[in-house]
Amino acid sequence: MTANELRQKYLDFFKSKEHAIISSASLIPENDPSVLFTTAGMHPLVPYLLGAKHPAGARLANAQKCIRTDDIDEVGDATHHTFFEMMGNWSLGDYFKQDAIAWSWEFLIGKDWLNLDPKLLAVSVFAGDEDAPFDEESYNLWLAMGVPAERIAKLPKKNNWWGPAGQTGPCGPDTEIFYWSGTPETVPAGFNDDNELWVEIWNNVFMQYFKNADGSFSLLEQKNVDTGLGLERVLAILSKCDNYQTELFSPLIKELEILSGKTYGSDVQTTQSLRIIADHVKAGIFIIGDQRGVTPSNVGQGYVVRRLLRRAIVQAGKIGIDVKFNHTWMSKLISNVIQTYIDIYPELEENQNLITIEIEKETMKFQNTLENGLKEFDKLKVEQGRIGGVEAFNLYQSYGFPLELSAEIAEERGLEIDRAGFTEELKKHQDLSRTASAGKFKGGLADSSVETTRLHTAAHMLLAALRKVLGDHITQKGSNITAERLRFDFTHSAKVTPEEIAQVEKMINEAIEKCLDVAYEEIPLDEAKATNAHGVFDSKYGESVRVYTIGVDNKKKQSEWDEIFSREICGGPHVENIGKLGKFRIQKEEASSSGVRRIKAVLE
Ligand code: SER
Repeated sequence: MTANELRQKYLDFFKSKEHAIISSASLIPENDPSVLFTTAGMHPLVPYLLGAKHPAGARLANAQKCIRTDDIDEVGDATHHTFFEMMGNWSLGDYFKQDAIAWSWEFLIGKDWLNLDPKLLAVSVFAGDEDAPFDEESYNLWLAMGVPAERIAKLPKKNNWWGPAGQTGPCGPDTEIFYWSGTPETVPAGFNDDNELWVEIWNNVFMQYFKNADGSFSLLEQKNVDTGLGLERVLAILSKCDNYQTELFSPLIKELEILSGKTYGSDVQTTQSLRIIADHVKAGIFIIGDQRGVTPSNVGQGYVVRRLLRRAIVQAGKIGIDVKFNHTWMSKLISNVIQTYIDIYPELEENQNLITIEIEKETMKFQNTLENGLKEFDKLKVEQGRIGGVEAFNLYQSYGFPLELSAEIAEERGLEIDRAGFTEELKKHQDLSRTASAGKFKGGLADSSVETTRLHTAAHMLLAALRKVLGDHITQKGSNITAERLRFDFTHSAKVTPEEIAQVEKMINEAIEKCLDVAYEEIPLDEAKATNAHGVFDSKYGESVRVYTIGVDNKKKQSEWDEIFSREICGGPHVENIGKLGKFRIQKEEASSSGVRRIKAVLE
């Protein structure tokens, strides 16, 4: 089965169970400041898990692009990735445990579906603790499906609880499904979570709680189901090989074999390097290819792309690819990834130029870094043949010099590095930046607070006003909204002048004084576009979307409104009338990346 067939089979199965199929959202969360990337399918759906009505209904299914970097050190084994696709089915206050479990089982073992051998499957359920009880219902449902008791593990929150994605938000106990990846004859009778040959393939989360800022849990108004079935892992099972030998990776690995002259599987180190390069380059391509203004940089999402690409370059150097003098070696890998995903993610091909330029720029920068870093390396203090952890960390911090690389160069010179000292220093730094970002990302749309909602509506007004003042070429490139302020990125090649800023503020504040209404409607995407609604079009032709309109007046029907201030495709939430927004003020206007400007604004 090909990856496209598998994805389609999954969607067809859930279509037959009356689910509406929705598109993958961007990897860069729209309006959700609590995380850097979409790490799971639930992310873009948070408002609906909390009770907002989804235009496509209460049963949804999709395949969502995800980026997860918390497992980055595991990449190199057979099953971990930083970029992956998660197939998911969703109940928004509709079906619950019984149907979710029965359908997962039917899809996995059904003759017309994946036809997996049930003897090679095992599951786990939540064991219960002081926050929530043992999930006896799921346990009994699995028994009823015919799963033997020794294959149903009861595990704590660490294993069987999912969410929230940020610090607060919807979450709940989950039940996970594992597949025996060893030879069938060696499958043990019972399930043991420590045995790595049991690979987790599917997670069914029963989202019925909300985690509050003080760490306590409250019951949600509706009971939801959020599931995630890993596309790469299931494809590997069906193809009877490891993830990197499936068609989602093999062309890429082949290209790397040609570039390096090395063979996948020849030895552990080479295989690991090939996997890391393939994974990281693919992730970088997908992030830049989403065209939301994320390019390699020293902060936030851009820093993640930089790290991924640089790690890939270091590994490439290790297996003999010429990374010192050639800055275009990744271009074949880029076309390769684009070809693999061309039918599903056409945005990659549309942005091929941008992706190539950004990756080549970064490759060149890293070449300079390496050169300067080497010079610095020779100036490092050496005590008894040892380079201190703080010194190695500074090299990493200031020159992007990875520890593995420093260790290698040290070895060449007969020196060693205090690795424990480096790790300690790194941890100190991570704790610091975590605290900083926790403060920075306080509030946010993920918790739908009143303040954030008001600023979200103000962000719509800002886009509309910018288009009126600067021209129709302005499109949104991303936003980040907390309870305190909004940050808004948009395409524009010049600095916005103080006069233009004053005009934008005036236009928004006059509209606020007019107490315009905000209303929404759910209409097909093509109709929304035809009526000039702006917004990010993640949805496909024919899908229904929610369109928010800010305009006058509250006595008339929306179709008869004679003044429209803003009209945008958006999941919400928004205020109902802008009269109480307060005074809109732009605090700062600056460059964000090339051709993209950034505005920070507040409501006073
Ligand atoms: N959100 C859950 C996960 O990522 C299920 O989709 O595993």
